[in-house]
Amino acid sequence: MQTKSLKGRDFISTLEFTREELDSMLELAAVLKADTASGRDHLLLLRKTLFIIFYNKSLRTRNSFETGMTQLGGHANYLDSEKIYTPATEGEEKAYSTERVSDVARVLARMGDGIAIRMYGKPTGWMYGNGNKYLREFAKWADVPVINMEDDMYHPCQSMADVLTMKEKLGDLRNKKLVVSWAYSPGVKKPGTVPQCLMATASKFGMNITLARPDGFQLDPMMIDAIKENVKKHGGSFEETDSMEDSFKDADVLYPKSWGSLACVPPQTSEINVDKMKTLFDKNKDWICDDRKLKLAKPEAIYMHCLPCDRGYEVADSVIDGPNSVVFDEAENRLHAQKGIMALLMR
Ligand code: CP
Repeated sequence: MQTKSLKGRDFISTLEFTREELDSMLELAAVLKADTASGRDHLLLLRKTLFIIFYNKSLRTRNSFETGMTQLGGHANYLDSEKIYTPATEGEEKAYSTERVSDVARVLARMGDGIAIRMYGKPTGWMYGNGNKYLREFAKWADVPVINMEDDMYHPCQSMADVLTMKEKLGDLRNKKLVVSWAYSPGVKKPGTVPQCLMATASKFGMNITLARPDGFQLDPMMIDAIKENVKKHGGSFEETDSMEDSFKDADVLYPKSWGSLACVPPQTSEINVDKMKTLFDKNKDWICDDRKLKLAKPEAIYMHCLPCDRGYEVADSVIDGPNSVVFDEAENRLHAQKGIMALLMR
């Protein structure tokens, strides 16, 4: 099937892209990965600049975007949101401390070829959806692509790297069982972007998806509806359970990770309720991916995690460092997947 040009498109959610468009990014990613390994350069973004704005910490995202732009012949310019006039929306501005998003977006678009943003959690006041709204405000004003490096709803570049990794390890993803499971962590201030966005993306590839989570860790109903719609259209299945053990049975892919409860953040509460969150987390300390649970999955099942992970809580060292783990291939694929995405959007 012919895919129309993706040049100039924003990449905020994979839900806004067809299966064919996602395939074209993944196919280019695979070619660029193989060619880079054999020393063949593709300077598809020669002299182009991507501005990368971070409101939160990062190891993988920052370095994969910077390396990816270098390998494509361009440059990623890192902007710490605290060290520029912090981009702010109307009504949130402070004189000579912030700068309105509409102005920042238009200035950067005059100088470069793309703007990538990470914003979730504290900088959004933990108001679910605020981070996504903020990225869309940038996209409204910038006439260059805006790329989501993780907001409070989606982490589409992570999901694309995850799909690329699953395809490399399992081949055709149709009817493969993907288990996305909550896991315990003593650090409770975490967004649910990775599980939501992974399922939203994987459900376009015909996978049989099981979401396992204790009561209180339900994900955004809008996302669950979108996943169910995708499954209807693309095949595969979706089910939810509150048993980590049950979900692991016969799995091809295990993706256990921690996320915070939407019931403990605005708009459900007036501000983030850390005490309530901790109480919910502490009821479920046995939600760890250990050797006993791993044995419930297929023997060749792969263990995945976006990283960073909380070793000894979300996962046992023996699992993440064991033969089923593909976490470092997955982390490396951030670089390759994003090269495919950037090259098609920014060329
Ligand atoms: N997985 C991921 O996004 O990692 P960073 O937070 O290190 O960027």
